[in-house]
Amino acid sequence: MTGVCVVGAGFWAREMHLPALAKIPGVKIVSVVATSEESAKVAAGPYGARAFTDLEAAVADPEVDVVDVVAPPDVHLPAVLAAARHGRHAICIKPLGRTVAEADEMLAAVAAAGTRLFYAENVPFIPALQEARKLVDSGQIGDVFRVKACEGIGEPHSPWFFDPVRSGGGAILDMAVHSIEFCRFFAGAPVASVYADAGTFRWADRTTAEDTAVLTLRFANGVIGQCEDSWSLAGAMDSRFEVYGTQGRVLVDNLHRQPLQAVSESAGWSYPLPVPGLLADGHLDMLTHFIDRIRDGAPSKSDGHVGRDVLAVVEAALRSVASGRREEVAR
Ligand SMILES: NC(=O)c1ccc[n+]([C@@H]2O[C@H](COP(=O)([O-])OP(=O)(O)OC[C@H]3O[C@@H](n4cnc5c(N)ncnc54)[C@H](O)[C@@H]3O)[C@@H](O)[C@H]2O)c1
Repeated sequence: MTGVCVVGAGFWAREMHLPALAKIPGVKIVSVVATSEESAKVAAGPYGARAFTDLEAAVADPEVDVVDVVAPPDVHLPAVLAAARHGRHAICIKPLGRTVAEADEMLAAVAAAGTRLFYAENVPFIPALQEARKLVDSGQIGDVFRVKACEGIGEPHSPWFFDPVRSGGGAILDMAVHSIEFCRFFAGAPVASVYADAGTFRWADRTTAEDTAVLTLRFANGVIGQCEDSWSLAGAMDSRFEVYGTQGRVLVDNLHRQPLQAVSESAGWSYPLPVPGLLADGHLDMLTHFIDRIRDGAPSKSDGHVGRDVLAVVEAALRSVASGRREEVAR
């Protein structure tokens, strides 16, 4: 049995991580930690788990093997450090931290403790994107030269998002991390440089952070990436991904019932293409992958280094917004 302590009892823990963890064979949700005992109890109750407000006490419980951090970004570093201190593995939701420096501190702590750190970014696990990846890997859209993602919502649902001290930033840190990881997943090379433009159009009365951002990435292999990310998309959320190759293209509109569309000159595909009936968001696949890698010790395709590399792109984007110039991504 693999014992999991979930840190956070809010929207994402209750709606995504707890229900997915409960479906994984051999996983026991041992405890839930939140700032209020009442909300911890509400989240823990359906799983027969214990409710805590004291992170240290929850993580110290010998039944806990893995700490799954699904709380605001200012909690990520202390929670991952607590996990490492007690010899527990950690799964940390996006963004890995508020800064690259925080990510480096996490990576050093888990390396010293001999534990593992997984980066909970669901985008590469989205079933339609897994299928898109198979199409790209089959070579039938030719060589990929451009990738593009759009991740937008109208308004963050909790006040902490608007406080850059707690959240670490605005739409670039909160939303573009998804788009950057999508682009990385399909470009197949590190991001070399970024040009970014951003502004605050809807929420200037609530935050100093940007609510709208456009990033142009240049990958080390020449591929161009485009990221359109926002907290300013009035009306409805958007989650779209595009891959352009020399012989075709793939479009994934993940919020639509038939998300995968593809065109290939050589294969003559018609679109849309069916996606096997899996969870549309990829959370069950992602958490199953992490639990499997803990059990078999094999490398993960989404470890802490992935989250750290995405943060390095975020920091280059923020430098670009400030300088008005293209900025190199620091290694
Ligand atoms: N697609 C995605 O992967 C996705 C989507 C939404 C949110 N998220 C991420 O999930 C995390 C949580 O977001 P949310 O939407 O659930 O927020 P939320 O505001 O709905 O809930 C936050 C929860 O964290 C708990 N919390 C706050 N401080 C804590 C502390 N010191 N110790 C323990 N618990 C604490 C609160 O009690 C609350 O239960 C954020 O990092 C966010 O970026 C990821």
